[in-house]
Amino acid sequence: MTTLTGKLLIADPSGHQMMLRSGSIRISEGRIHDVVLENDEEAITAADSFRPLVPGDRIICPGFIDAHLHLSQFGIIGAHGLPLLKWLDQVTFPAERAWEDVNFARQKTRLVLANLLSFGTTSFCAYTTVHHTSAMAALEEASQLGFRGMIGQVLMDRNAPPELCRETNQLIDEAAETLARFPSTSEMAAAVTPRFAITCSPQLLESAGTLAAEHNAAIQTHLAETEQECARVAELFDSARYVDVYQQAKLLTPQTILGHGVHLDARDRETLATHGAIIAHCPTANQFLGSGQMNRQALNEARVKVVLGSDIGAGYERSMVSVARAAIETAASLGNTPPSAASAWYDITAGAADALGWDDVGQLRKGYRADVVVIQPDFTTQMQGHDSIIDPLSQLMFAWDDRWVKQTYLRGQSVWGG
Ligand code: GUN
Ligand code: ZN
Repeated sequence: MTTLTGKLLIADPSGHQMMLRSGSIRISEGRIHDVVLENDEEAITAADSFRPLVPGDRIICPGFIDAHLHLSQFGIIGAHGLPLLKWLDQVTFPAERAWEDVNFARQKTRLVLANLLSFGTTSFCAYTTVHHTSAMAALEEASQLGFRGMIGQVLMDRNAPPELCRETNQLIDEAAETLARFPSTSEMAAAVTPRFAITCSPQLLESAGTLAAEHNAAIQTHLAETEQECARVAELFDSARYVDVYQQAKLLTPQTILGHGVHLDARDRETLATHGAIIAHCPTANQFLGSGQMNRQALNEARVKVVLGSDIGAGYERSMVSVARAAIETAASLGNTPPSAASAWYDITAGAADALGWDDVGQLRKGYRADVVVIQPDFTTQMQGHDSIIDPLSQLMFAWDDRWVKQTYLRGQSVWGG
């Protein structure tokens, strides 16, 4: 039995936010055996009087959930100055060609997974490339290490370099193989992943929708990230609304994760809400490519579920804490009521798990997977003897330093740091 003691980041029963409570968790056989909280007076929430974090404090946190990233794009982080479609053509597609070599892909996947653990990410929804054996290798590696989440082989049959396009039927057969080996019930499952409407023929989109339905599988794709992309989709699909292109192909389901959704109107949001599809908000990537700022408040009001993604490599922050902070900043710069830090912490833990329908991660809770991050903030400038007026969860998020992640556990095993 492993015991971890400190300030536990736990879900606030009163709403969609997290709070810190002193206590400990005990881990046994990969699961959280129990959670023991100290007395109630120790509660620290945004609403309470704040108990400042002090040097030596240790935060015990559920592992972070990154709901949108590209395993094949860690090497291109930082290719700045291009809008999406040029960035894809000039930077991304050339880089993805390297995944043709399965040994290269496996090696890179291992490095990327280790890297994610060092940032506290223990669950994710990821894309690979169009290469089938490499997608299988990535699934094998992530599954073996004990990650929770999904990985999809990218499906493309047009408007990409010929080396990265495949016959429609071949893509569907290969995607079916990934699902046969890593079904939707697996802790690391395959996801049906048509890249986006521009690089997929109508037949491919439709077959992908059918395949996902047959296997009760999750779907990942990109939606309305830039205006230029939306205009191109209208050209390719007879002026149809972008959202309707996916809807007609039966690609909008409660298990669909749509990257971005920056350029949507009220009707689009209603369609997404009706089908229960989820938007993966990727604020750092939107900033980096100059795609626009996603109006999360409008999505919330329309009751569209939203999760957060790093979208590496258009996104440049590997830490989900930094992505959550960027989401607060985006909301503020749009003049919307920014989410509280307590709710931003929820977004990358319990909230993401809830939206994705994962009932075994995202919280420090009895019976849940022991995917845990130990954080040791280093507030060397903390004034002693003064009660801080700063919400500790806000302080932790805005003063965040990736070096504060001291140890990461997957299924109760220490897999990074310590
Ligand atoms: N749209 C289609 N493919 C991609 C991708 O790889 N990254 C981003 N940010 N948007 C996309
Ligand atoms: Zn993406």
